[in-house]
Amino acid sequence: MERSFIMIKPDGVQRGLSGEIIKRLEQKGFTIVAMKMMEVSRELAEKHYDVHRDKSFFNNLVEFITSAPVIAMVWEGEGVVAAARKLIGATDPLNAEPGTIRGDYGISIGRNLIHASDAVETAQREIALWFEDSELISWETALQNWIYE
Ligand code: RTP
Ligand code: MG
Repeated sequence: MERSFIMIKPDGVQRGLSGEIIKRLEQKGFTIVAMKMMEVSRELAEKHYDVHRDKSFFNNLVEFITSAPVIAMVWEGEGVVAAARKLIGATDPLNAEPGTIRGDYGISIGRNLIHASDAVETAQREIALWFEDSELISWETALQNWIYE
């Protein structure tokens, strides 16, 4: 089953939107495989956003992600990587469609509430970066046959 690394960023936690964000992913039918609240080290933030190392916004981004606690999660389900990106919406909340998390709750690109892996390979790299294997709980919901045909 496919997995995605999803993180509620400091602004999502501070604004009390963690429950709302988790609710949307849960109600879609995806399941939580791992979840932890944590303060992110500079080293971890830099590794996570390594592809953006040369961008002008890199330093601000790392400063922001390390500024207050985040909720790091692994979610599982068929097509979860692409589907989670759709539920989250465009990177710039002002361009994100209403009905998406960023479209409903955000305004600034640097305060877009949530991260989700952008491809299956990225998800594998990010899950390994943020979690030990022993932290990932394999389980199947009793609703499996009511969610999947
Ligand atoms: P994320 O990685 O956080 O899930 O966001 P994303 O895929 O939608 O966007 P990405 O291109 O990977 O950018 C990572 C984060 O950097 C900030 N950003 N700022 N000022 C800017 O032009 C700019 N561009 C990107 C955003 O907070 C974005 O989520
Ligand atoms: Mg990204």
